[in-house]
Amino acid sequence: MTLDGSWGYASDKTYQQRWELIAPQLRSDAFTMIDWGSDSGWFSVKTALDFPESKVIAVDGSIMLGDSNVREHKSRVSEMGITNNHLVNCLFDADTFAALKSCPVNYQLVLSVFHWMGDGIGTRLQSRDDWNAAFIHLIEGAEYTFFEVPNEDDPGETPHKIRSWYDGRPVAEVIRSAIEGSGVRAEYRELGEIEHPGKGYRKLFLIQSAAQAIDPERVLEVADVIARVGSRIRLPFSMTARTKLRGLINHLRAFRS
Ligand SMILES: C[S@@+](CC[C@H](N)C(=O)[O-])C[C@H]1O[C@@H](n2cnc3c(N)ncnc32)[C@H](O)[C@@H]1O
Repeated sequence: MTLDGSWGYASDKTYQQRWELIAPQLRSDAFTMIDWGSDSGWFSVKTALDFPESKVIAVDGSIMLGDSNVREHKSRVSEMGITNNHLVNCLFDADTFAALKSCPVNYQLVLSVFHWMGDGIGTRLQSRDDWNAAFIHLIEGAEYTFFEVPNEDDPGETPHKIRSWYDGRPVAEVIRSAIEGSGVRAEYRELGEIEHPGKGYRKLFLIQSAAQAIDPERVLEVADVIARVGSRIRLPFSMTARTKLRGLINHLRAFRS
């Protein structure tokens, strides 16, 4: 199904280019998926619509643009009468990923969001080892992980702390070395590159782990684990203040229109 072109924070082209790489990798029978940092829900809604047997959990803590994203997500899901898309509005961190090893899903989307993990949200990620551990917890929570992070060398790229993980290495090398150093069984391959306007191209990787996904009927257990761990995670003060301010601006805008 085609989604109209005015969703979320990114351009329709940026969504479509990634979807064209992701969709052919998904099975057509029942599966579970988590979309981490789901923003306004483009990918999770598209999955729920195009794969009606799927059960999708979207997770977003509304820290980028205040709560306008989850309000948009909820209203789209309700307008379209979608029942296989469940939104969890909370924070996540490396402890969330570790907790999900008890109930892995089939697929997870980690699109332009893992780099936020170093910004002082919940578990602190400072050293290369901290990042590697969070990444390995992440990939053990799903059979397949679609993974896209900022590229290593475009001067316009987002200057998040993820660079302490890269330590000058290309993203593919960072992934290879994290997997090899951990001893877990996992394979990765590059699916393609997506243009992120002003930031160059980000590569999309598909990582397959040895996890065995739970039965799709148990998907709400996954949502419960995410919400339970998320309720303990705190934002740093500067981010809380920024998020509250954005929320206030959104409410004023909505009130005026
Ligand atoms: C740059 S956007 C990416 C959105 C979408 N995945 C995409 O690629 O189009 C990052 C989203 O992740 C959310 N986010 C980032 N870190 C988070 C965290 N630790 N917990 C919950 N939400 C988070 C932000 O609120 C924002 O909506």
